[in-house]
Amino acid sequence: MNTKTAENRDGLAASVRPRFQTLRRDRWWRAPLVTVVVLVGFIVYGTWVAFANEHYFTDPYLSPFYSPCLASNCAHVTLPVIGDWWTLSPALLILPFPLGFRLTCYYYRKAYYRGFWLSPPACAVTEPHRRYTGETRFPLILQNIHRYFFYLAIPFPIILFVDGIRAFSFPDGFGMGLGTLILLVNAGLLGAYTLSCHSCRHLCGGHVDVFSRSPVRSRLWLFVSRLNVRHGEIAWVSLFGVALTDVYVRLVSTGVISDPRFF
Ligand code: FES
Repeated sequence: MNTKTAENRDGLAASVRPRFQTLRRDRWWRAPLVTVVVLVGFIVYGTWVAFANEHYFTDPYLSPFYSPCLASNCAHVTLPVIGDWWTLSPALLILPFPLGFRLTCYYYRKAYYRGFWLSPPACAVTEPHRRYTGETRFPLILQNIHRYFFYLAIPFPIILFVDGIRAFSFPDGFGMGLGTLILLVNAGLLGAYTLSCHSCRHLCGGHVDVFSRSPVRSRLWLFVSRLNVRHGEIAWVSLFGVALTDVYVRLVSTGVISDPRFF
């Protein structure tokens, strides 16, 4: 088979091919490429939002990037824990926790190891690195703290759900807008992402030897296991959910769009 024929078959440029030896003829490089594009896009957008420090609240909607708002310089204080000595963006106080939870997530690890480290880029494709050390050495050994980030991340969907309930309370009284629905859906997606976590599954049933003797934990484990099967999809959908919820609040806050009220 000449090079031109091989290039036409899998659509990959010949200049890149020699680094990834494989017998695969499908477009295996598409998934890692999409991973890189989406994650870089989210990182760029999230960093801009975190430092922007404006247009994250429009009564009664609070962006998930800024919730809970803990500093007294917040446009809408959730809990006044930090005094006025904090002058930076309040998002910087809370974002390390959900960010650490996502960064160390087992699913994302697989996705970005393939997309960024090419280690390996796909099944049955050789990786360009000579040696494989896995997560046994610094800095990747830090990935093992995921279970602790899970504990730290548990309050966030609950807080966002409370934000969704508060979003029924408009300045002119009780009501429901499109933003209320978006905030509630976002909280639900983040709840599903947290509950479907492998650490949550382990917490529910990891230490149980005989499920018939622990019926409650058995039911919890079964419920979480069903969600866990879809953890990868939920991870992506909830990531988009957070970004789109912020975009919506931002557009309403800046007056670019108006929030439709259902009642
Ligand atoms: S959040 Fe993905 S495995 Fe825990």
